[in-house]
Amino acid sequence: MTSSSVIAEGAASATDTAGVPADFIGLTNSLCDAQALLTALELDLFGTLAAGPAHPDTLRATLGLHGRGLADWLDLLVHSGMLERHGDRYRNAPVADRYLVRGGAHYTGDVLRRRMFPALLALTESLRTGAPHGTDEFTDTVSRLDVVRQFADQMDFITDPLAGPLLAAYDDWGRHRSVLDVGGCRGGLLSRLLAAHPHLTGQVFDLPMMAPLAAEQAAAHGLRGRLTFHAGNFFTDPLPASDVVVMGHTLVNWPAERRAFLLRALHASVNPGGVLLVYDRMLTGALDEAERHNLRISLSMLVLTRGGSGYPLEELRSHATAAGFAGVTHQRLGAYDTLVVCRKAPVANGASPGSADGRARGQVNGDVEAAVGQRRQAQRPVVGGDDRPHDGQAET
Ligand SMILES: C[S@@+](CC[C@H](N)C(=O)[O-])C[C@H]1O[C@@H](n2cnc3c(N)ncnc32)[C@H](O)[C@@H]1O
Repeated sequence: MTSSSVIAEGAASATDTAGVPADFIGLTNSLCDAQALLTALELDLFGTLAAGPAHPDTLRATLGLHGRGLADWLDLLVHSGMLERHGDRYRNAPVADRYLVRGGAHYTGDVLRRRMFPALLALTESLRTGAPHGTDEFTDTVSRLDVVRQFADQMDFITDPLAGPLLAAYDDWGRHRSVLDVGGCRGGLLSRLLAAHPHLTGQVFDLPMMAPLAAEQAAAHGLRGRLTFHAGNFFTDPLPASDVVVMGHTLVNWPAERRAFLLRALHASVNPGGVLLVYDRMLTGALDEAERHNLRISLSMLVLTRGGSGYPLEELRSHATAAGFAGVTHQRLGAYDTLVVCRKAPVANGASPGSADGRARGQVNGDVEAAVGQRRQAQRPVVGGDDRPHDGQAET
């Protein structure tokens, strides 16, 4: 009996007894898919094919390869959806043309090569120490606009598909006048919300390095004056007031106590009678494809951030209730996300949405600042976290 038939038998019985589809052989070989992509990035295969379709012989000569394994490597990339084969020639699939051509405007290959893949290979170490791999390159390079742009492209790539479902899932837009997207990057999602609801004005709250990209975004979508950018650090600066406040794909970057802190800050910024909409890759415990995907995201947070992790819906619900939200409901959003709608009670004296008391809000944010200052002192060594703004989201 060969070793692979032993593995095959083991896989079959594991499937039968556990009742869970366990593609054991596929799993043991799955690193090959990621490595084939990494090798393509290292050799700049996609940059080479950006010039046009090529025969394997041409690729062998251009990339300086031996030839053995070349066709298999190319065909595996076809199966992964990165290449297309037409006759005896290969060309980039559209996604590779857009995101994987070195030097291209939307190139995300460096994030994968230099950050994501090396960090995941160090998973064992991160599990032992609780610390991320290497330095936080995002923070170290935020001064470079090209890197920030790549990051924003990646966020748009991930979040764009959620705009339609979000617009449909929350059906009370007509009641509100203002939307604030906290950690809203350059305003990709917000532009879609404002385009769909012309009566709304919107603000993005994000780190100062996003300002030029947000201005570009507003201009490109004809939203100058309706989409404005508010620069700040949500751990130290007060958030502006708004009827609807959105936070998406951001809480996973921080440990639980910081998520609790942010929920309090977000509550303070929602006008009375308004709502907070949180979308994220929340963990449900289900044995389904979405959970598998979201566990990968959570482990990515382990290896990439200081203290970030996936979190269950119940954790968010409890932070939201403790922060003072009156009602919390949730629903699935797209393939992997959960949308949580947190409603803030109208003020008793009948003030309408849009009339938040700035003085009261300032006081609350002041309390929050004081609280986070104390946490910095008390908890930093325990969680291994730090206060620098960072972002570990690097999923493609
Ligand atoms: C993972 S991205 C999510 C972007 C967007 N909400 C989405 O769903 O695509 C997190 C965002 O939070 C911002 N961010 C990180 N730390 C921050 C901080 N301390 N203050 C304000 N924004 C911060 C990042 O610049 C980034 O735009």
